[in-house]
Amino acid sequence: MFIFSFLTLLSCENSQTSKPIPMSEVAQDPHSFANHHEVAVKHLAWEAEIDFEKNIIRATAGLSLDRKLKSDKLILDTRSLLIESVRDESGTELNYSLSEEKKFLGQALEIDLLESTDTVYVEYKTTQGAEALQWLEIQQTADKTHPFLFTQSQAILARTWIPIQDGPGMRFTYSAQVTVPQGMMALMSAENPTELAEDGVYRFKMKQAIPAYLMALAVGNIQFESIGDRTGVYAEPSVLKKAVYEFGEMDEMLVAAEKLYGTYAWERYDLIVLPPSFPFGGMENPRLTFATPTILAGDRSLTSLVAHELAHSWSGNLVTNATWNDFWLNEGFTVYFERRIMEEVYGREYSEMLALLGFQDLRKTIAEFSDSPNDTKLKLDLAGRNPDDGMSDIAYEKGYVFLRFLEETVGRKNFDSFLNGYFEKHAFKVMTTEDFKDYLSEKLLDQDSSWKSAVDVDEWMYGAGLPDNAPQAKSDKFEKVEAQLERWTSGTPAAELGNLEWSSHEWLHFVRKLPSGLTAAQLGELDAAFGFTTSGNSEVLAAWFQHTIRSNYEPAWETLDSFLTNVGRRKFLTPTYRAMKESGQILLAREIYSKARGNYHSVATNTIDELLGLEQ
Ligand code: BES
Ligand code: ZN
Repeated sequence: MFIFSFLTLLSCENSQTSKPIPMSEVAQDPHSFANHHEVAVKHLAWEAEIDFEKNIIRATAGLSLDRKLKSDKLILDTRSLLIESVRDESGTELNYSLSEEKKFLGQALEIDLLESTDTVYVEYKTTQGAEALQWLEIQQTADKTHPFLFTQSQAILARTWIPIQDGPGMRFTYSAQVTVPQGMMALMSAENPTELAEDGVYRFKMKQAIPAYLMALAVGNIQFESIGDRTGVYAEPSVLKKAVYEFGEMDEMLVAAEKLYGTYAWERYDLIVLPPSFPFGGMENPRLTFATPTILAGDRSLTSLVAHELAHSWSGNLVTNATWNDFWLNEGFTVYFERRIMEEVYGREYSEMLALLGFQDLRKTIAEFSDSPNDTKLKLDLAGRNPDDGMSDIAYEKGYVFLRFLEETVGRKNFDSFLNGYFEKHAFKVMTTEDFKDYLSEKLLDQDSSWKSAVDVDEWMYGAGLPDNAPQAKSDKFEKVEAQLERWTSGTPAAELGNLEWSSHEWLHFVRKLPSGLTAAQLGELDAAFGFTTSGNSEVLAAWFQHTIRSNYEPAWETLDSFLTNVGRRKFLTPTYRAMKESGQILLAREIYSKARGNYHSVATNTIDELLGLEQ
């Protein structure tokens, strides 16, 4: 009864236009306080000053409102902000209050609007608790000439540096004026400068509406070099050359992506290489992907990450998951799209290797979640949790396998035309798992009864684990790698395996497939033949550490120590510290961590503090 009346209320008419509001727009976001169904922020005018002395941002957020329903309150998300004043466009002070602090979510900022209020100006300062921000000291950068600041807003950290309606289903355009110390460059997820501004003042415009998790800022000693007409790279000067080579194929990727799923909507596609403490591999900030330097392998072997972040320009940034429970719609589609781009540019054999490595990750994650099968579902229930904790390989790799299964069921041609229609129809809109299910049935599966009976959509979206008929990638190259490994385990010395001439993906497969429990002497033999400890490929190195730690292989300790001290990418930190913990070396792990922690972003320290039992 209650649920019924609640739903009737949700499908209520919009008072001014009397159009029914689609369900996706009213999907409850368990991670936002905002009342955007009533009063929505439609534009943000942000004026900010970046203070590298105090490590704070002083700013005013000008929020233009769409007052959809009769309400005299604007509710924003905030966390750890110091609010100084709230005014409207006439300069009149508005009454406001901050709710009690809720774990992960922060505080609702409730502002009383006047009848005439169109725009609200919130003057505020960030604090040391601003988890989106990482302020790097001069010594923590590559060039050691200037400090550095970067943000990471996804999933719900935008509210720690901007008072905003912080849910993926809430979009706004923005403009910004950012003042930084002289000699530094500021970049945002917007139209960006390519030259230093003498006065340290930078102006930005993002004219397409985006959700708050795509708000981004980087400030540092940064230079630009262009790659193609629409693409280019930003990095600290000493890193720029290497980055320009590594990402030399960005334009081809962009062309391939457009050929697959339609025109690129964001004009330019640039990428910034951040300092090594960046906690992720990449972040799809519109027009400017943020990337870790750990993909600078020197041989372009880790650029599928660029394809991934580029693909988000469609899946995620154009069609956006309505809430973090629908995260797989962002990431699963993006992994599928990423591998299609890689297939287009490098061939099927290459993309199948990537798919197989992903499948290994998926199997591992499902096994690790044996005690929490709900976390192996595509549709998540993250209410009451930090969304960051529920986001795993499941969304990425099970999402990928589902879409691959659909492709194989209906044929690539039909699937591609379905996806083209999907991106076109839902551009700049939000998508729930349920809306996708309906759209999938109507536009694809209902067209052919054999398709309909072949695909158990509910099992894929709402079931735990992996359906039995999940498709698997196949790679002849990986089979050859396994054959060589077999030769070694049955007695052929590593040095006599021959001239292998493998790509780093094959080496990664080799290292992952090494049996557990090898002796330090055996690792030494492999190392002498193949030089894993000195590998310039971060994926291979991180996989190698799994063995060196568990077998207490001493020659790798120094490299491991310096890797952990310099690199803040959580995907590498978590399994590495975990291996130390599981092999009885937690004291050593804590010792290295205590030295390295200051170099990590809060996203990483939250995870590793818990792993090593160091929560306050
Ligand atoms: N959007 C994600 C990063 C993210 C996810 C940040 C969830 C915060 C919460 C980004 O597109 C991503 O998936 N990055 C991956 C790389 C990719 C090649 C799988 C990463 O950082 O490892
Ligand atoms: Zn992604």
